[in-house]
Amino acid sequence: MEDSKYMVAVIGAGPAGLYAARKLAESGARVVLFNRDIKPGGLAEYGIYPDKLKMKQGLRNQFRQILSSDRIDYFGNVTVCCGGNIVLEDLLDSGFQAVLVATGAQGTKWLRLPGENLPGVYHAKNLVFHYNLLPPFGTKKYLVGRRVAVVGAGNVMMDIAHYLVRDQKVEEVIAVVRRGPAEVKFTHKEMEAVGKNLDLAALDGEFARVAPIMQAAGQDVEMARKSFVDVLPKALEPVSQTRLRFEFLASPVRIVGDWMSGVTGLKVEDNTLLAVDGTVKARGLGTTRTIDADTVVFAIGDTVDRDFCVPTYNDAYLAVPQPRFPVSGISFEAFNPDSQKPIERVFLGGWARQASTGLVGVARRDGENAAEAMLAYLKTQPPMPDLDNVVYKFEQRLLETHERVVDKNRLGKLEQAEQAEAQKRGVEDFKYASNDEMLTAMGF
Ligand SMILES: Cc1cc2nc3c(=O)[nH]c(=O)nc-3n(C[C@H](O)[C@H](O)[C@H](O)COP(=O)(O)OP(=O)(O)OC[C@H]3O[C@@H](n4cnc5c(N)ncnc54)[C@H](O)[C@@H]3O)c2cc1C
Ligand SMILES: NC(=O)c1ccc[n+]([C@@H]2O[C@H](COP(=O)([O-])OP(=O)(O)OC[C@H]3O[C@@H](n4cnc5c(N)ncnc54)[C@H](OP(=O)(O)O)[C@@H]3O)[C@@H](O)[C@H]2O)c1
Repeated sequence: MEDSKYMVAVIGAGPAGLYAARKLAESGARVVLFNRDIKPGGLAEYGIYPDKLKMKQGLRNQFRQILSSDRIDYFGNVTVCCGGNIVLEDLLDSGFQAVLVATGAQGTKWLRLPGENLPGVYHAKNLVFHYNLLPPFGTKKYLVGRRVAVVGAGNVMMDIAHYLVRDQKVEEVIAVVRRGPAEVKFTHKEMEAVGKNLDLAALDGEFARVAPIMQAAGQDVEMARKSFVDVLPKALEPVSQTRLRFEFLASPVRIVGDWMSGVTGLKVEDNTLLAVDGTVKARGLGTTRTIDADTVVFAIGDTVDRDFCVPTYNDAYLAVPQPRFPVSGISFEAFNPDSQKPIERVFLGGWARQASTGLVGVARRDGENAAEAMLAYLKTQPPMPDLDNVVYKFEQRLLETHERVVDKNRLGKLEQAEQAEAQKRGVEDFKYASNDEMLTAMGF
């Protein structure tokens, strides 16, 4: 194998970071991968619904194979920035010629509504991390009531509905959607888990209520309804009596309740639809109503972590408007809006560049494109002399100054321990839910 020429760091070992690392390594770079979580995979491990085990295991195999490269080192349980173990400047000062930020969308999108902090109000990410056993969420208690309003109409809303219908078996799940039935974003496939719990009478009532507004916006009501009921023949057999219903054209304005009794309802403003330049928007009508609920879950997408050491714009880290190394016309270079200059040597990829957008395949392509942009930059730089020695010294310092850093060797031990535990329990998959258990299993 040709000697490595460049030394780069990748922050975040989700799909974007891992596939970027592979591309960088295959193209002659030595990659050091840092990950906040002990395990690699990001949302592929801790987001994808647990019952999609085949898909998860397929991805785990690919990630294991990527990490087996001699050109990629892995350091889990290491948070960069965000009050973590290392700051970005440390990496840039330690010889890394370029750094890829692939940290995903770890921040919470607050709507700043009254009542948003009441007990019984959750953001989907926390519940998703809980049922996927990401520490510390895996061991925390999330009390869910009987009537749960889930705000949003994407696949995350459907995953939450899946959890509430098939696992928590609550009485009622109400999906609260700000636009109409023709604008829902979840896929048929994801509805199969809950389709048999759909309250068809309530759905028809809701369609009748919003039909005039849909028609005024030029929409085909029957076609939209068909897209909801077409999934029913393929839907899984129900395991609960949960009623799933939809409230369309409703934007949350307040969570009703108090600190003693928690949530009692979700106050929403009625919307109408406005077709503008080929897109359909929701416009508030000023009238409000309250949906009875004792729990509210926001499944409205996430935002990047604002404590990270890169400026943000909307929900993602800010990219250079006129990229010097564009790939397919897209900018992957971080930008400093104060100096109006690129943040030299810092690149963005995956959900860190575009929060809450797309499937694993999209994050993979974005990570690979970010790697291509980095490689275009690296080609303008002289190869790094004495590279192996610089990497070795950096890693020695990291291990001396930071506790319980998880390298590839330890990761292998964890995998073995979890497989042994699965066998012992006679289950297909076993995951430790706390960092302490994982660290003990790895021999710390
Ligand atoms: C609930 C849910 C379910 C999904 N289900 C599916 C599905 O079924 N099929 C599908 O194809 N896609 C699914 N997706 C989408 C898919 O998971 C994402 O497209 C993809 O994981 C995004 O990849 P990423 O690498 O950009 O970010 P992430 O996957 O979020 O990875 C980010 C990584 O960065 C690390 N990190 C964060 N901050 C730091 C830091 N400061 N320092 C060091 N490391 C850090 C994290 O530990 C994590 O490992 C789902 C998404 C969600 C939210
Ligand atoms: N099983 C799977 O394959 C799977 C599972 C989970 C996630 N994913 C993927 O992960 C990505 C993220 O999913 P997601 O569900 O978080 O995002 P999403 O698909 O963008 O859906 C977000 C939903 O929240 C609504 N919303 C946003 N802001 C709102 C606000 N202020 N008030 C009220 N509603 C608001 C949106 O409405 P508008 O449309 O009106 O903006 C939309 O219905 C998607 O690409 C998704 O496909 C895939």
